[in-house]
Amino acid sequence: MKKILVIGSVGQIGSELTLELRNRYGNENVVAGFRRTQPSEELATSGPLENVDATNIEKLAEVIKKYKIDTIYNLAALLSAVAEEKPQLAWNVGVNGLYNILEVAREYKCAVFFPSSIGAFGLSTPLDNTPQDTIQRPGTMYGVTKVTGELLSDYYFKRFGVDTRGLRYPGIISNVTLPGGGTTDYAVEIYYEAIKNKKYTCPLAKGTFLDMMYMPDAIDAGIDIMEADPSKLKHRNAFNITAMSFDPEIIANSIKKHIPDFVMDYNVEPLKQKIAESWPNKMNDSCAREEWGWNPKYDLDTMTRDMLDKIGKKLSK
Ligand code: SER
Repeated sequence: MKKILVIGSVGQIGSELTLELRNRYGNENVVAGFRRTQPSEELATSGPLENVDATNIEKLAEVIKKYKIDTIYNLAALLSAVAEEKPQLAWNVGVNGLYNILEVAREYKCAVFFPSSIGAFGLSTPLDNTPQDTIQRPGTMYGVTKVTGELLSDYYFKRFGVDTRGLRYPGIISNVTLPGGGTTDYAVEIYYEAIKNKKYTCPLAKGTFLDMMYMPDAIDAGIDIMEADPSKLKHRNAFNITAMSFDPEIIANSIKKHIPDFVMDYNVEPLKQKIAESWPNKMNDSCAREEWGWNPKYDLDTMTRDMLDKIGKKLSK
């Protein structure tokens, strides 16, 4: 049985991933690590909880020893737009934090999951059908931390045998914890605004295509990659994975099938637009499909139905 530590367990992905890991591996086997934001009641009461921060290596090592941790999910990061506002902090959390985790993992023989991103690409990358192995020269600090993280994780695998594995997540759409300061956040906000006001002002321009994924698929991917047979993995850090690609018009039309009088207008935010234009329109995820069986369950319309249903119920409480 695995003994898992999740760093960043109160974030957008961490909050749902931690609960699913507890569900699969047993509540007592999954430690929720948090820093400043207080965990939800469910997270706090369903299993062990530790105030642990990847930038504090002593505390990290203490927690690893205390619970005999063998797998670390490192989900602490600043999203792309906020990382442009605070590049020094983004580097400290994204790179120095990961370095500490890899060092502790080397010493205590832990496997490490690293979430990379579509942000690991840039304008010199082929943005359509983006290959698994291609040019990675991102123009954002977020992207710089992700490429560095991929390289560092691969280095620790090759040099020290640390079992590092990673995914290049696209924009993640969820209905539990809101993302904060990401370029793809619009694809979450649009559902809340459609239900609350039947109106949404989009910060990205019409025609801006990006890869996206519904949270249940993102969580399955994070668990499946760590369960994958290592002998089948030709790649490690990090796999392209995607479930859908759309622009603001396409997601708005998917919502209109359920809320016909929903309207969207545009007020383009230059920073987010510039970032979005430097990211893939659609990645090629065939290596993930071949090497460990990646196969998402949700497309845009099945996701829209579920998002509207879940958020509708949440807001009517
Ligand atoms: N969702 C992230 C962001 O927009 C991309 O990985 O920053």
